[in-house]
Amino acid sequence: MAVEHGTNLKPFNTFGLPCVAQTLVHITSDADVRRVVDDPVLGRGPKFILGGGSNLVLTRDLSACVLKIEVLGRRLVETRDDAWIVEVGAGESWHATVQWCLEQGLPGLENMALIPGTVGAAPVQNIGAYGLELKDRFESLDAVDLITGRSITLRAEQCGFGYRDSIFKRHLAGKSVITRVRLRLPRPWQPVVGYLELERKIAETGITAPSAQQIFDWICAVRRAKLPDPAVIGNAGSFFKNPVVTPEQCRDIINRDPEIVHYPMSDGSFKLAAGWMIDACGWKGKSIGRAGVYEKQALVLVNRGGANGAEVVTLARAIQESVYGRFGIRLEPEPVVV
Ligand code: EPU
Repeated sequence: MAVEHGTNLKPFNTFGLPCVAQTLVHITSDADVRRVVDDPVLGRGPKFILGGGSNLVLTRDLSACVLKIEVLGRRLVETRDDAWIVEVGAGESWHATVQWCLEQGLPGLENMALIPGTVGAAPVQNIGAYGLELKDRFESLDAVDLITGRSITLRAEQCGFGYRDSIFKRHLAGKSVITRVRLRLPRPWQPVVGYLELERKIAETGITAPSAQQIFDWICAVRRAKLPDPAVIGNAGSFFKNPVVTPEQCRDIINRDPEIVHYPMSDGSFKLAAGWMIDACGWKGKSIGRAGVYEKQALVLVNRGGANGAEVVTLARAIQESVYGRFGIRLEPEPVVV
């Protein structure tokens, strides 16, 4: 268990925000977590769990002990009639895992290609893209309780998955460390191509029965065309969740703004495209200080170079106010703001 002091977290968060961690512990196994729990000094104070830092807005230095999760390993642990079960260490890169699975002949994650971050962070906010969410490919996870040091295994129904949400963002936040995730890849593989952008690719290319690799390549192309690469421009993906409203609220907004992009949900409510609303308020390409709104996707806030967390939060608040002023909707940030 390697321990560091006074570490700058700038390289460890995709927004590239400066933040000094008083104490940082590299966690490579469940036993490392238990060592922290049992440590007379580290065990007592608050903890902050850091994965790939891709869903994080750091606005201040951290006195909490930062646990940097670096548990590695990927293996096919079970082949069932209806699914492959793949177990992955929480510290593995999500995208590299999607690629690895495809290389092993284990398709099913391709719609979630290029989502930044680690495998351990994926269940925390139930990552999702292009018609699939983690919960659709989830079997179970292992975590270590930060009070007792005990290992637990949670199945999907125990994780409280919702839209960009889970118990790890709520009552288990900061209380347990996810160390391994088991993914469930259904057999036989079936493509998920209902999303508008994929339908467009099928129409353009004439490939009506795409392979998993083909879908992977399309998703990578679509994402690269409209989402900034965090290695080039600091960002944390979508900055706001798409708000969910009642049919009455939706009708109200449509009456005022007939163009608004909205999707019906299975429970009768409607999801509104936050990116469209921010764009309609004229924010695309704008900046406050060194924080800005990405030119090609208004839902993504970016670090134009040298921004700090306060500048990002100031920009986010200004956007929230103008969206509220025009649509009466309060946008909720998607990343964790610390
Ligand atoms: N739109 C605009 N202007 C913009 C941005 C979007 O008019 O500046 C419109 C688009 O034309 C489209 C609609 O808004 O009609 C929705 O946009 P898009 O399809 O790009 O998806 P999104 O709702 O902005 C969500 C996820 C993304 C995910 C994509 C694809 C959330 C908060 N975001 O974005 O996830 O990749 O769908 O499935 O749910 C992330 O969570 O970090 C993320 C990138």
